[in-house]
Amino acid sequence: MAYAKTGRSLPVPNVQVLAQTLNGSSGKQVPERFVRTEEVCAEEVVSGCALPVVDLGRLLDPRSSEEELANLGFACQKWGFFQLINHGVPDEVIQDAKRDIAEFFELPLEAKKVYAQLPESGLQGYGQAFVVSETQKLDWCDRFFLILRPTESRDMKFWPAQPPSFRSSVDRYSAEAAKVVSCLLRFMAAEMGLEEPERLLEVFEGLPQNMRATYYPPCVEAGKVIGLSPHSDACGMTLLLHVNDVQGLQISKDGKWVAVEPMEGALVVNIGDVLEILSNGRYTSVEHRATVHESRERISAALFQQVCPDTMLAPLPELVNGSNRARYRSVSHEDFMKQYFSTKLDGRRSHLDHYKI
Ligand code: OGA
Ligand code: NI
Repeated sequence: MAYAKTGRSLPVPNVQVLAQTLNGSSGKQVPERFVRTEEVCAEEVVSGCALPVVDLGRLLDPRSSEEELANLGFACQKWGFFQLINHGVPDEVIQDAKRDIAEFFELPLEAKKVYAQLPESGLQGYGQAFVVSETQKLDWCDRFFLILRPTESRDMKFWPAQPPSFRSSVDRYSAEAAKVVSCLLRFMAAEMGLEEPERLLEVFEGLPQNMRATYYPPCVEAGKVIGLSPHSDACGMTLLLHVNDVQGLQISKDGKWVAVEPMEGALVVNIGDVLEILSNGRYTSVEHRATVHESRERISAALFQQVCPDTMLAPLPELVNGSNRARYRSVSHEDFMKQYFSTKLDGRRSHLDHYKI
């Protein structure tokens, strides 16, 4: 994953520490670099939205599979987001991963800095992403990025030894998530009507996977900042774990921001840019963002399902025929990712739409 090594970000202040300073003193204001009032206020937000629910148990059961496949198709085509239930990941695996990710962010700054991003290691480790200029506006969050799969690409110096169970918890969650993804890819291939589902699965061979855990500190002026700028994910699909129960994810739907309230125990899945391209636009990679809470921290962990590093991204040939022309230019995955990390996050227009024809 060369891009994970080259996608560098300029150093920025640690937001958790900044938030503690602000919250502890009256009259202090959020630094100008984080103030996004205009963008945040300009757009309407619809609250309390239930995402489509996809039931993996029903997909696997021959009696209900066909019906549920239609449901999966609807979710991937019309929403680009769904909550997956009966996903088969043991609750204990999810709880352990959540606990250890949260505990990592609770460590003192010095302890977290042991895993800080290094100039030669790009995105991996504790720090930031997408900061490309000294003047751009900043997101109200700290990030922690790890390459999880293939397991031989893990760089263990970035894997926290504190809390002591972090490594095994994240490893187990990663393995379970890979099983879920591989299952979903099979059903997606069927839903797309591919006669050779292998063509889709081959692109994801070895299930390369990385994780971005994000810590959104509380902000006394929550309405003035953005936790995570609008973007779409530059991967096949993302499994999003709500590490604690503070909501903040918003997705773009019909020109409005819709605040998502995931069900307890469900995994939030979203289609990334790569699946939109491979499916020739049948599936949609939807713009989303994260807001912050005024008094409570929010923590999430996104597992990004990537494709093989040497892939040429293009609509699957089976999906391009007489009436269906190719809607995306082909591009090497490497160039695609380089482009993604070379600019600040600025919605999907700046990235995916670049490849549209
Ligand atoms: C991401 C992402 C959403 C969240 O990391 O790409 O969209 O709720 N995270 O933190
Ligand atoms: Ni995202």
